[in-house]
Amino acid sequence: MLDQLSEIEKSALVGLADAQDEVALETWRVRNLGRSSDLMKVFAELAGLSKAERPAVGQAANRLRTALEAAMAERLREVRQRSLERSLAETRLDVTLPGRPYRRGRLHPSTQQLRRVLAILADMGFQVYTSPEVETDELNFQLLNFPPHHPAREMQDSLYVEAPGRGDNPILMRTHTSPGQIRAMREYSATDPKNPPPIRIALPGMCFRHEQITARSEVQFNQVEGLAVGERITFSDLKGTLTNFARRMFGQTARVRFRASYFPFTEPSAEMDVECFVCGGNGCAVCKRSGWLEILGSGMVHPTVLENGGYDPRRFTGFAFGMGPERQLMLRHRIEDIRYFWANDLRFLEQF
Ligand code: PHE
Repeated sequence: MLDQLSEIEKSALVGLADAQDEVALETWRVRNLGRSSDLMKVFAELAGLSKAERPAVGQAANRLRTALEAAMAERLREVRQRSLERSLAETRLDVTLPGRPYRRGRLHPSTQQLRRVLAILADMGFQVYTSPEVETDELNFQLLNFPPHHPAREMQDSLYVEAPGRGDNPILMRTHTSPGQIRAMREYSATDPKNPPPIRIALPGMCFRHEQITARSEVQFNQVEGLAVGERITFSDLKGTLTNFARRMFGQTARVRFRASYFPFTEPSAEMDVECFVCGGNGCAVCKRSGWLEILGSGMVHPTVLENGGYDPRRFTGFAFGMGPERQLMLRHRIEDIRYFWANDLRFLEQF
């Protein structure tokens, strides 16, 4: 019996050394330690042995089982270690390979330009004030000194949200950012009606007009409105502020000129032109041979508008201006069709 055990041990250890992976090890375990293995048969035969033989054989069999189990555990560790090493070697990471580039998103060109405008105005002390895109006729027109049926309304054909049944104050999409002037003045003056604080705000946002969509006109576009109200604000402040703005936006050497104009809510009113940065003022297709590009409307806030905002026009004056970021981009980059802005064509958008 004891000889038989040492035979079992020998052949088991040979078999174990041959087992190269976990599957082979499991097969080995069934064969050498499983229920029908030779070793288990020895255990089964113990009962038939004499009292004298039994303890020695029993102890030897138990020792062999423990030894084989330990040998198998050790072999399992080796096999696993080797397979880990192999897989690390096979799937080695090459840190010198070039990375896969990310496709980076970017801000819409209008947003970029809007931010440039606001950053310059912020440096001059104008804080951003936002006001709704949906307005009433009263705020969009009447309080800005557009009387009913005034012809100036036709420069800004409106998109009505709810035309019929609202009498003379229909809801509409704002045609310009100027109704924000009234909202801002009212909000400020409400905080201190007897002694309203000075105002310096920049008012960005989308505007909407009932236009035929063509290369030159769209139904929606951005504007940035500026408004300064306080004591002793003069037309020179308007000119200084806007000239300074133009230099920072279009270059330190940019020349500007002011032309008399008309808006119902400013008096006097002026449009500002910047010297054509395409031809340097010599005359080209972009400036239509004039050498100048119109970039904004402006003026001293009309006394009626100040009053509608809760500011006493005998004590307060102010100036306002409005400009279009898309128009500035079109001039700057010679974009010939305004429809590119909302067409969502990546070939256009990716250029900015
Ligand atoms: N709201 C005017 C427009 O849309 C621009 C403007 C704003 C003019 C403020 C004067 C003062 O054309």
